[in-house]
Amino acid sequence: MTTTATTPFSTLIRTASHEQHTEAETSTFMGDLLGGRLGVDAYARYTEQLWFVYRALEEGACALADDPVAGPFIQPELMRTASLERDLAHLRGADWQRGASPLPATAAYAARVSECARTWPAGYVAHHYTRYLGDLSGGQIIRDKAERTWGFARKGDGVRFYVFEGIANPAAFKRGYRVLLDALRADELERRRVVEECKRAFALNTAVFRELGELFRASA
Ligand code: HEM
Repeated sequence: MTTTATTPFSTLIRTASHEQHTEAETSTFMGDLLGGRLGVDAYARYTEQLWFVYRALEEGACALADDPVAGPFIQPELMRTASLERDLAHLRGADWQRGASPLPATAAYAARVSECARTWPAGYVAHHYTRYLGDLSGGQIIRDKAERTWGFARKGDGVRFYVFEGIANPAAFKRGYRVLLDALRADELERRRVVEECKRAFALNTAVFRELGELFRASA
């Protein structure tokens, strides 16, 4: 409709996923984790799940660097895999990778990201947006809580995933990112499909939280 045509795409995608954002934010697992009601093992298992997702995102990124649609979004300062690996070595020890396994919901999420990276660059952008803009926003709240709850050094090992060393001003970075979203090389129909993929990305995240919630229950 006309609103879709005139509303900046960055506003459209944010508004369209607002309800699901609240759902993810208020999931039992996230609530318990951020409420300090879970042990560090739950945080470690969650971090491990993120590693599978970011590996899919960032392996896909290499192949898309020159893509006219997704290419502008691929920026080295966003890359999180190396930080996650440092966090996991801290949380689980040097051989963390040997015991790492994706939950079924994580495997499904990572598979969808890889599929988009291979076959649908605009769909990949939906996943890119959902993760990185979230990490630059609410991720900072999670870092703060994690540092306090489990005693990690401020912005140190255990929470490096949340620290974007190469981004001095996250608010300015997010503004720039929204400019890129508004300029996405996609017609209206394709943009609607991207919004749908973003909702799917949120649902995939919520499914991971659900499975983590089944594994880890609050002790009090
Ligand atoms: C407890 C968990 C979470 C908290 C506390 C949180 C909090 C926030 C906050 C405060 C913002 C900034 C809103 C603004 O700038 O207007 C934000 C933005 C965002 N969050 Fe979350 N969030 C959480 C979980 C998630 C999850 C699980 C995802 C998806 C994987 C996500 C994706 C996003 C995205 C994509 C944005 C950017 C919206 C935009 O400006 O376009 N968040 N979040």
